[in-house]
Amino acid sequence: MINALVVYGTRYGATANTSEVIADVLRQERFEVKVVDAKKDKLQSISEFSLVIVGSGIKMGKWTKEPKKFLGKFQKELSKKKVALFVCCGSAKLLTEREEKTREMEKGKKNILKIKLFTII
Ligand SMILES: Cc1cc2nc3c(=O)[nH]c(=O)nc-3n(C[C@H](O)[C@H](O)[C@H](O)COP(=O)(O)O)c2cc1C
Repeated sequence: MINALVVYGTRYGATANTSEVIADVLRQERFEVKVVDAKKDKLQSISEFSLVIVGSGIKMGKWTKEPKKFLGKFQKELSKKKVALFVCCGSAKLLTEREEKTREMEKGKKNILKIKLFTII
């Protein structure tokens, strides 16, 4: 059994819903999944999880601050785990949806992480 953690930051609720959908899919694949709202639940340890998925809604090009804090706090440990990032965003007018999400992901990686990433979009 693989233990997975989904940590998210949301302003309007979409990323919370998306996190639950991700968790449901993983559970169907027999993962044990914990879903955490980074604003409400400050985790002290992530040692039990081998897969950590972190997501945020985007407002004016920015992540919510709590998932960024989470990534910073556990950066060293995360470098030894499988990590996936996702964003929930809406502005696909200038770029295609995929390009926009990729751009936000790249920003997240550059700004926050210097760790091994397994990304999902
Ligand atoms: C005030 C506001 C600003 C937004 N800014 C952006 C943005 O800069 N880029 C983008 O792709 N989407 C933007 N969006 C769309 C949100 O990212 C999208 O609705 C997302 O699902 C919100 O996630 P959340 O519900 O988890 O907060 C914005 C939405 C609002 C209401």
